[in-house]
Amino acid sequence: MAKDEFFKNREGNGEFRFNREVAEVFDDMLSRSVPCYSQVRELTSQVLGCYLKKGDRVYDLGCSTGTTLIELAATHKDLDLNLIGIDNSAAMIEKAALKAEMYSGKDNITFIEGDITETPLDQAGAVILNYTLQFLKPQNRTSFLNKIFQSLRPGGILILSEKTVSNSKETNHNFTELYHEFKRKQGYSDIEISRKKEALENVLIPLTIDENKTILSEAGFKGFETFFQWFNFVSILAVK
Ligand SMILES: C[S@@+](CC[C@H](N)C(=O)[O-])C[C@H]1O[C@@H](n2cnc3c(N)ncnc32)[C@H](O)[C@@H]1O
Repeated sequence: MAKDEFFKNREGNGEFRFNREVAEVFDDMLSRSVPCYSQVRELTSQVLGCYLKKGDRVYDLGCSTGTTLIELAATHKDLDLNLIGIDNSAAMIEKAALKAEMYSGKDNITFIEGDITETPLDQAGAVILNYTLQFLKPQNRTSFLNKIFQSLRPGGILILSEKTVSNSKETNHNFTELYHEFKRKQGYSDIEISRKKEALENVLIPLTIDENKTILSEAGFKGFETFFQWFNFVSILAVK
């Protein structure tokens, strides 16, 4: 896995983009930037195991390099799932397809390059939306979640993982400090941390947990539960 040194030797100017350079180091970047990233994937797979039916379609929207779906294919072989990953970064989709070829019986995984807000979704047993909603314009999020809601069969589920903000300024400050401490422990320098923070300004727009639950409710979901939280990182199960 190539080491993420994306912000090591560059000025922090320019918006963050999921381009080829980022795709090259993305797996290392996420494992060192998203607290408990591998546990969240494992929990996602476990939750899916409780709700999926044999032959279900599962979408991973904003699938990046496909890690989640490739692991799902291996864990839930018996369920004969139809796994579809969509991402609008060509470089990510190329990586995902390559990884699927290397690590799995790729027959039941398809990776599609496309905008998740525009690509039609067929009926699905589950949709995974991990750390991606935060990159959509806030005003478009409810209608996008409604599109997901419409695509789910009754009893189908959405897994939503997001970075969030707190209503309290003090808590926000403290959680941000704790997050930066986590990143330092993962080997990122203060300059890398501050350059990435700056590049993500206005690109990654986090909501509070309550705001996320409100838009889920507005989109049609009746029942939702937080199944994982690490300070300001949260994973929610929403059931149709
Ligand atoms: C932080 S990454 C998601 C990580 C991935 N879900 C995982 O758990 O490994 C966000 C991804 O969303 C994709 N993305 C952002 N906006 C998108 C859009 N409108 N349509 C499709 N993909 C999008 C980016 O290209 C990027 O790969």
